[in-house]
Amino acid sequence: MMSPPRDTMRPAPRWPRWRRQLTGKRALITGASSGVGRAVALELARRGVRVLATGRRGERLAALAEETAGMAGGPLLYEAGDITSSAFRRHLIDLANEQLGGLDLIVAAAGSGAIGSFRDASPDTLAGIMDVDFVAPAELVRVALPALRAGHDPAIVLVGSILGYHPLPLHAEYCAAKAAVRSLAGTLRIELAEDGIGVLLASLGPTESEFWNHLLTGRRPSWSRGRAMSAVRTARIIVRALVWRRREVLPGWRAKGFAFAARLFPRLIDRAMMRRTRRSGLLS
Ligand SMILES: NC(=O)c1ccc[n+]([C@@H]2O[C@H](COP(=O)([O-])OP(=O)(O)OC[C@H]3O[C@@H](n4cnc5c(N)ncnc54)[C@H](OP(=O)(O)O)[C@@H]3O)[C@@H](O)[C@H]2O)c1
Repeated sequence: MMSPPRDTMRPAPRWPRWRRQLTGKRALITGASSGVGRAVALELARRGVRVLATGRRGERLAALAEETAGMAGGPLLYEAGDITSSAFRRHLIDLANEQLGGLDLIVAAAGSGAIGSFRDASPDTLAGIMDVDFVAPAELVRVALPALRAGHDPAIVLVGSILGYHPLPLHAEYCAAKAAVRSLAGTLRIELAEDGIGVLLASLGPTESEFWNHLLTGRRPSWSRGRAMSAVRTARIIVRALVWRRREVLPGWRAKGFAFAARLFPRLIDRAMMRRTRRSGLLS
């Protein structure tokens, strides 16, 4: 699975300070076996980043490694495991130090959803969603900090959601987790500025991926079936935001429109969602 470590001490090329140079960087990407994480891994490998990719489905990661073989940063390294395990998170950082010689970027894209009314949901749903969507990325960042501090122009990308701006019915656990991710990004951005570690929050709107196939509980509501942005396009926007040292990015007009409306017309959104929720029959 692993290819031998390469020399990481090549001198950084001259580059305007307002742009982050990606070539030669070392990145850990969670959720890389599908959707947005996978697309970000491909985009970074294409741009000459050496990637350690993770997810639970090893066969998907092996296929991804093959796909990146001819790319500037490829073939990427991978390690399969459950990101909610603290031992596995520690192992990933050790692996990055051993195999990549350190770490410059973390992209925390692993995530899972659950649909259903909060009153009918089991406490396991709340714990499960918080674990994968909030605790895992937060604790991964914590354990990675020493490596990032020693990295070259380091940065953290947290993949959040527009539902971190304004919650929807039947998504209580997921919205809470993504609001927590958004809040964490704000805190880290300030606390880590002195260490020179940048923090980018990517708040996604509807995106084509396998997200709806792997819900912890419930089924996809009809209102989520509108046009979605492709994972590839989303990944390009995220990577561009990373290069331009943005603090936050909302890929696409649907995401931007929702965040804007949530700020200006929160009651309107709530009223529309109440009507849709009643019609959906998903509320018992
Ligand atoms: N799709 C959307 O409309 C949308 C909208 C807003 C935000 N987002 C966010 O975007 C991020 C990426 O999701 P996606 O849309 O690309 O969905 P996806 O295709 O289902 O990808 C989710 C990834 O997370 C990994 N994952 C889930 N649970 C894991 C666990 N316990 N341990 C390790 N890896 C785990 C999955 O890998 P394995 O199954 O192989 O473990 C998969 O690679 C998520 O944070 C999601 O909340 C998505």
